[in-house]
Amino acid sequence: MLEVNNLKVEFKSHGKSVAPVDGVSFTVGDNETVGLLGESGCGKSVTALSLLRLFPMASKPLLQGEVRYNGRDLLAANDATMRSIRGNQIAMIFQEPMTSLNPLHRIGTQLGEMLRMHTKLDRQQIKTQVIAMLQRVGLSRATQLVDDYPHSLSGGMRQRVMIAMALLCKPGLLICDEPTTALDVTIQAQILDLMRDLQREQGTAILMITHDLGVVAEMCERVVVMYAGQVVEQSTVRDLFDSPAHPYTQALMRARPALDGIPGQPLMAIPGAVPLPGSVATGCRFAARCPKADDRCRASMPPLEAIFPGHMARCWYPD
Ligand SMILES: Nc1ncnc2c1ncn2[C@@H]1O[C@H](COP(=O)(O)OP(=O)(O)OP(=O)(O)O)[C@@H](O)[C@H]1O
Ligand code: SF4
Ligand SMILES: [Mg+2]
Repeated sequence: MLEVNNLKVEFKSHGKSVAPVDGVSFTVGDNETVGLLGESGCGKSVTALSLLRLFPMASKPLLQGEVRYNGRDLLAANDATMRSIRGNQIAMIFQEPMTSLNPLHRIGTQLGEMLRMHTKLDRQQIKTQVIAMLQRVGLSRATQLVDDYPHSLSGGMRQRVMIAMALLCKPGLLICDEPTTALDVTIQAQILDLMRDLQREQGTAILMITHDLGVVAEMCERVVVMYAGQVVEQSTVRDLFDSPAHPYTQALMRARPALDGIPGQPLMAIPGAVPLPGSVATGCRFAARCPKADDRCRASMPPLEAIFPGHMARCWYPD
C-alpha cells in the first residue's frame, strides 16, 4: 500500500542545508500496522509530514526519493491530487489534537467538512454519519457534542474526536504521530484498544509513530527503528523484542522499565543525545554513543543490510 523509497528531506536555513530525514525506506502493507520507533529528534514527525507534504509554506523542504501509495508517487503528484488524497485515502492523527482542531468551529462542522469535501452526501446524511462515528469512538453524548467547541472537551475526548475525523472517510492508511503521548495511561490504553478495533473493522493500514516500545508491542506487527534520520533496524515486532540486532535498539530495550524485570535491576540510560542533523560527517551516526564502536565504525557508514530474511540492521557488528 505504502512504499517509501530513499526519502530525503532537506531544509535550507541561514545558507546551510540540513537533512533530518536522510535516505529512509520502508513499506506498509494492506491491513498492516507498522511502528516507526525512535528517540525525540530522530526525524519521525518530519518523515510523517513528508508522506502527505504537510509542511507550512514558511518551512517547505526539498523532498527527494519516492513515496508510493498504491503505486502512485505522492512526491510527484500535483496539489489537487494531494488535496483529494489527504483525509480521504490517507488520514493523519497528531500528538496534540488542538493543533488540528479549529477552536472557532463546532465539532460537528469540522467533522462534516471532511465528508463535504470528499463525498456527495447531503446535510442530513452528513450529520447522521458524523454522529454515528462519534458514537463509534466511544463518545456517547454525540448528539450534543456536535454543537460543542473543541475547548470544552477533555484531552481524551479530543483525541477520540480526532480519530473519528480521521476515520470518517474510511481511509486506506492512517498515519498516527504519537497519538496517545499526551494522555494518561488508562485513557491511552482505551484509545489504543479503540484504534485496534476500528482497524479490524475497516481494514485500515496504520503507520504508528512512537518513542514507546510498549505501544509498538501492543499495536504493531512490524517495526522500523530510526536513528538520526536513518533507518537502523527493521523486522517483525517479535524478532525485534526477541533478538534486537542493532546496538541502538538494544540500548532502547535496556532503557525501558520492565514490569516483569528483576526488582532492583537498574535502568540503563543511553548516554548522550541524538546528534543534530548534519553533525556527523562520517561513519556510523550512533558511534559516539555505542559501546561497540571502533575505528571502522567512525570511518565509514554501515549499510542497511538483511541479517536474516525479514530482519535488517545498519551496523558493522550486528548481533
Ligand atoms: N522546519 C524545520 N527546519 C529545520 N529543521 C527541522 C525542521 N523541522 C524539524 N527539524 C529538525 O529535524 C529533526 C527531527 O525532528 P522531528 O520533529 O522529525 O523529530 P521526532 O523524531 O518527531 O521527535 P519527537 O519524538 O520529539 O517528536 C530535529 O533535529 C528538528 O530540529
Ligand atoms: S556500526 Fe559500530 S558504532 Fe555503529 S552501531 Fe554498529 S557497532 Fe555501533
Ligand atoms: Mg515528533
